[in-house]
Amino acid sequence: MTTSSRARVTPAAIRSRKRVSSSEDSRKISALTAYDYTWAKIFDEVGVDLLLVGDSLGMVVQGHKTTIPVTIDQVIYHTRCVSAAVERALVVADLPFLSYRVSIESSLLNAGRLIQEGGAAAVKLEGGILYKETVERLVNADIPVIGHIGLTPQSYHRMGGYRIQGKHGSSFRKNGLKGKNELLEDARALEEAGVFAIVLEGMISDVAQEITEQLSIPTIGIGAGPHCDGQILVSTDMLGLNVDSLPKFVEVYAPIGEMARKAVEQYLADVQSGEFPAERHSYRD
Ligand code: KIV
Repeated sequence: MTTSSRARVTPAAIRSRKRVSSSEDSRKISALTAYDYTWAKIFDEVGVDLLLVGDSLGMVVQGHKTTIPVTIDQVIYHTRCVSAAVERALVVADLPFLSYRVSIESSLLNAGRLIQEGGAAAVKLEGGILYKETVERLVNADIPVIGHIGLTPQSYHRMGGYRIQGKHGSSFRKNGLKGKNELLEDARALEEAGVFAIVLEGMISDVAQEITEQLSIPTIGIGAGPHCDGQILVSTDMLGLNVDSLPKFVEVYAPIGEMARKAVEQYLADVQSGEFPAERHSYRD
């Protein structure tokens, strides 16, 4: 452990990290996506507050073009892998496409599986005011929820791609694209419904700032500028493992993909030349 106390991070602890002048802990919330045991262990030991088993696994683990093919069983599987590694961070599991949109009953059952079978302590779902009742019912069933508004990747087909939100005038609403007022309405509805934090993705920085200022729960940004109460990135992006094109908002903190490529090239050369394995790698009587 390098940066934080080892006390388990709870939804209430994340909730209390709203950055107001009176808050005890003024550090921003740090969050990353995680999909497996090995990386989750590193992120947890370093002290990342929140690990999201995001449905982005459809793209970075499974190689799909969108998150839409991801199933609840797949998120449960990856959540189990992450939960096995984590001692401190809050593990949050994503509700994938349609898993919370068919009925309240199936939403409760699916969210419950992420908690019971996956070991998550909270779930996240995309969408605003339309899901107010669903969120209320989940929270009443003791399932802590994080909201997610702005660029919601599950709306890919409806939006006609990944489109930045909040830049079409204040009251704009078309094909899943929203203006500032609609985004604010979504954020307020989710807060009222009882989410303990909201992810703001892919929106104009000023709009994210205004939402952050108007809510009493923390906002966690991704591609939403510097004014949110916390930040999340897709871990494979910030580790330089993403070989496809990177969004503008990503900072690559280490070229791990390039380092891995060099390591494998060296391994290949050593195996082919007989340099590896050497006697020192061998067992003897
Ligand atoms: O699935 C995911 O990785 C996410 C983050 C981008 C917030 O939802």
